[in-house]
Amino acid sequence: MKTKVLVTGGAGYIGSHVVRQLGEAGYDVVVYDNCSTGCPQAVLHGELIIGDLADTDRLYQVFAKHRFSAVLHFAASLVVPESVANPLDYYANNTRNTLNLLRCCNVLDVNQFIFSSTAAVYGEPEENPVTESTPTLPINPYGRSKLMSEWLIQDYSFASRLRYVTLRYFNVGGADPCRRLGQSLRNVTHLIAAACNTALQRHSELRIFGTDFPTPDGTGIRDYIHVEDLAAAHVDALRYLEQGGESQTLNCGYGQGYSVRQVIERVKAISGVDFPVIEADRRPGDPACVTACADKICKVLGWQPKYNDLDAIVYTTLAWELHQEKLRTKRAARQKLVSINKERSVRSKITEIAYKLP
Ligand code: UD1
Repeated sequence: MKTKVLVTGGAGYIGSHVVRQLGEAGYDVVVYDNCSTGCPQAVLHGELIIGDLADTDRLYQVFAKHRFSAVLHFAASLVVPESVANPLDYYANNTRNTLNLLRCCNVLDVNQFIFSSTAAVYGEPEENPVTESTPTLPINPYGRSKLMSEWLIQDYSFASRLRYVTLRYFNVGGADPCRRLGQSLRNVTHLIAAACNTALQRHSELRIFGTDFPTPDGTGIRDYIHVEDLAAAHVDALRYLEQGGESQTLNCGYGQGYSVRQVIERVKAISGVDFPVIEADRRPGDPACVTACADKICKVLGWQPKYNDLDAIVYTTLAWELHQEKLRTKRAARQKLVSINKERSVRSKITEIAYKLP
């Protein structure tokens, strides 16, 4: 019999890539997602239950019905400025809902848990690359809501049979190279999305937030990881727990940093569009540099990234978005044709009636 796993937030950008890979690896998947930002069509495998983690009765029913052997918990809010404006929503959606999930795991004896955390728990690190033992000093409610969830999971695991893998994501980008899945770039603000949107002429210019950071070219440095490699890390983490592995907290990055200017240069080169770039003030709360030491994840999980290359991230992002644009154009043309045909049939009906008139 196939192993059954629960994936919260499996209709979202990262969750949907993981669900697809879990399906390919032979797992039986149940996705629980309120589809507030996720998209039902992105669930390419298993069963989708549209529900909210705040609805504890519903959640309990799902747990009681399915008897999961593991939970992969993605559902969360993740926009830093929004977390500063609405901290209570972030603590509710991220921290309290993790608690709801753990309570179900407790009652129904589900003892393997994979948690989506973030490099935001490190805040503004004094040294790079950061290891998993670098002090966690988050500088915004988003990072704190995730760190509090990490503590909840850890404390509960000390008091129970739960074993967990917490994955701290660095800057995620890219799309499925076969163009089955990706992130819709509309309303997305992260750098690769913003640069691709500008290359696609949806914005007139790209702003660089801060050119006076203590970095070689003055702009912020980040560790960009391809969503396919990140998804593979989750499948590896699940296998690790199934084989009896002990609880772990692991960085998910490549250990290679790129500055904002370097990212822009690659987006321009790959798209072939030389879009305008404006130098603007720093964005509040942006650290100068955050890169991962990825030694631990490679050693513990045997994780072997395949897309460790900024060009692959940019290329698949652009390819996915252009594919979506083509589909939108086709859909619009089809709709127009349908409405022309409808209009024609109404007109011919009127003519028919007119002929019948005395
Ligand atoms: C991202 C994630 C965050 C995660 C963190 C981990 C998103 C929305 N945020 O934050 O959840 O915790 O990685 O490291 O996915 N920049 C510009 N112009 C732009 C956009 C960005 O100059 O139009 C700069 C930023 O100032 C920063 C760099 O690009 O220096 C990366 O920013 P961004 O892509 O927004 O990601 P993070 O803020 O690092």
